[in-house]
Amino acid sequence: MNPSAISTTEAVDFVFLYIFGISAVMLLGITATMIWFVVKYNRKRHPQPQPSPRYNILLEVAWTVIPTLIVLTMFWYGWEGYTTLRDVPPDALEVRVTARMWSWTFTYPNDRTSDLLVVPAGRAIKLDIVSEDVLHSFYVPAFRIKRDAVPGMTTHAWFRAPEPGSYDVFCAEYCGVAHSQMITTVEALPEHEFEEWYRQETAEEEASEGEQLLTKHGCIGCHSTDGSPKVGPTLKGLFGRTVTVASDGKERTLTADADYVLKSIRQPNADVVKGFPAIMPAFDHLPEEELEEMVEYIQGLR
Ligand code: CUA
Repeated sequence: MNPSAISTTEAVDFVFLYIFGISAVMLLGITATMIWFVVKYNRKRHPQPQPSPRYNILLEVAWTVIPTLIVLTMFWYGWEGYTTLRDVPPDALEVRVTARMWSWTFTYPNDRTSDLLVVPAGRAIKLDIVSEDVLHSFYVPAFRIKRDAVPGMTTHAWFRAPEPGSYDVFCAEYCGVAHSQMITTVEALPEHEFEEWYRQETAEEEASEGEQLLTKHGCIGCHSTDGSPKVGPTLKGLFGRTVTVASDGKERTLTADADYVLKSIRQPNADVVKGFPAIMPAFDHLPEEELEEMVEYIQGLR
């Protein structure tokens, strides 16, 4: 099969149905034969054991050769399906997928970043998958693709969204407290709408660089900007808020200001907000300007 001619969904579904179909026929055949033998060779009909042939060459060859051929066809179609999943069509759009505890970030060839995987419908998308911390797994059930994000290496997968729509993305490798919330979507748009979205990049980035940074570093995976609760406290209205924190095991209250926010990004476990687990990784490697930009943006979230 030409890998660019069929989609990952078609490749996987065909093998699945093929193996499932054969298994179903075998199950029904074996069960029916069993029931038939139980009735036919019932003790009431045959009080004495019947003599039976010791061997039958033709039968033995048949029950060895036929299942071997069937299993080999399963292997063959399985291999074809596997190569379809691994061989990326040459015209694919490359998107970098960054996994971290507990969010996904997608980076496009023009450096645009997004927390939704926005793609043009009908076009092949190649995903270069990396992890910033632990094992994660990029899983899109609708396209039958699942690939681990492994720290220290780049893995890949590809898919083609058949038509515009929204498709679930999950993390399929247990990665800690908020693993089940490490979800997002593939947003497949008609080609021209995608082009529009893709080109918007510069204007938007200038408008809210802080927001882009929060997406890029995955902050909004755990901290909402609209007041809704997530794994961590919301960033909306954070400045000036009185917060109760545990510092070195001692509870104290403080008023959130720029120093507090900055410290919480660099050393998240120094002051842990009451009611939330101490699970945030330290972001002490971020450049000073980025931190300033982010703090400024958070300050503006009223
Ligand atoms: Cu990331 Cu589970």
